[in-house]
Amino acid sequence: MKRHPLLCLVLALLSPHAPAAVHTVSAGQSILAAVKQSAPGDTVRVMPGTYVETVYIDRDNITLQGVMVGGERPVLDGRNTLKDGILVAGDGVTVEHFLIRNYTANGLNLQGVNNFVVRHNIVQDTGIYAINPELSRNGLVAYNRISGVWDAAIYCGECMDVDILYNEAFGSVMGIESQTSQNVLIEGNYVHDNATGIAAFLIPGVSRKTTGNTVIRNNFVVHNNRANFAPPDSMPGLVPEGVGIAIAGYDEVTLEGNQINGNQSAGILLVDQATAFGSNFALDPAQDPTVNSARIYSNMLFGNGGEPLGLVAAYLADSGLPRGPDILDADPTSAGNCIYSKEAWFAVGVDHWSLCAQPTATAVASMRLAAPIAPRTWSDDQLGRNTWVAVCSACHNENGYLIGPPVARIQQDFVGAPEALAAWIAAPTRMNADFPPMPPQDYLPEKTRLAVARHVLGLQPKAAANTPPTAGSNVDESGN
Ligand code: HEC
Repeated sequence: MKRHPLLCLVLALLSPHAPAAVHTVSAGQSILAAVKQSAPGDTVRVMPGTYVETVYIDRDNITLQGVMVGGERPVLDGRNTLKDGILVAGDGVTVEHFLIRNYTANGLNLQGVNNFVVRHNIVQDTGIYAINPELSRNGLVAYNRISGVWDAAIYCGECMDVDILYNEAFGSVMGIESQTSQNVLIEGNYVHDNATGIAAFLIPGVSRKTTGNTVIRNNFVVHNNRANFAPPDSMPGLVPEGVGIAIAGYDEVTLEGNQINGNQSAGILLVDQATAFGSNFALDPAQDPTVNSARIYSNMLFGNGGEPLGLVAAYLADSGLPRGPDILDADPTSAGNCIYSKEAWFAVGVDHWSLCAQPTATAVASMRLAAPIAPRTWSDDQLGRNTWVAVCSACHNENGYLIGPPVARIQQDFVGAPEALAAWIAAPTRMNADFPPMPPQDYLPEKTRLAVARHVLGLQPKAAANTPPTAGSNVDESGN
């Protein structure tokens, strides 16, 4: 049926949303400028070329799409000076088909974001994390190729309802980490040549206190024997070397159908929080430090433990065993764990485990939700706090000198003047000769700058505390 043009016009005027627009960005133009002109529902298409910028997406339902032409895709290049490649703070955002490289903090960071999709990207040498949804829910990270970071290439920090599927993660301290999360499916990934391949860690001091329902299935976890190159005093500096899959303090992890081989300390390692982190970090009294309800169904474990290192070597020195095991439970207080067979592999520390009654986890198809999570409402306070954590805290903190001056100095210069502070960060002039210049934060909308300005002026400088440096882990999502 053909509609009368006038009817179409009337229908368009009646419809509550303008039709989605497509914005095209070509080499030499700014991706961020196009994002700033887009409205919820729009697509920003980026042609091949090299873009040296940080793209901040603060609005909902934007698709940021690289266009592949003749085998070339768009490159976001931080030239080893910019901090983040893409920062997502809007719900329902899709990012696909980019090459993101040479940033110093994160490749693609999603803070407190719901209903996200990150797929078919290549992310290389982006500092701490490559793809890191944090305090984010209901998302997909799939078909990405990621390498060269000193924490986790894919880092799901305090996430819920996330699928991590068919990625290649290599050349990092960890390939994939589920940190203090719930409802996570890690399936079909190729994870190789990291210090630890896949990690499920309950981290002390973060806002979530529990973990659970995490399925690690049908992954290839091979030759994770890289020397740990994170700063030794940082939390990732404690990640063991030569381990296929490491579980620390995290509950309800199910392992099935994984090919785990050639990891020279151990194939699967289970430890309590104190053994994993206790040497450098205070434990969290609100968290249960032991591993509970792990299920190890059938996996292919072969050729692990040939040359144990670090934590596993220390454990073996006490036990007198000749080589590292396929499976090591180094936590005698772990409880409620089950295993498919105690004889199929070289398994140590599993005497107190039961045999699994149910043989498979295949009933779990996805951890994502059937319908998107409803739009959130953040108060100005939450917006200010979350922007501080996501953007500013990588360079400023309450008690000392990072890349920029400490909070106390900012408070002194802008006392009672949040508007002036909000204006200054959009176009910084030189203030402190003993620091480098600050990159303009003009991509942040005025409302956000004002909210973060008010937040900084209200911060209480605190005494140096023994808290873990997990960037971004304190975002307040209570407005979700
Ligand atoms: C990439 C690092 C970086 C980020 C991100 C960053 N800053 Fe800065 N900031 C600096 C540096 C470096 C200086 C010192 C520049 C100068 O004083 O000339 C500075 C200086 C400042 C000053 C002036 C200091 C003074 O003496 O009063 C304020 C205010 C400030 N930053 C606020 C912020 C806020 C708010 C954010 C987050 C929206 C932020 N900065 C994000 C690096 C950064």
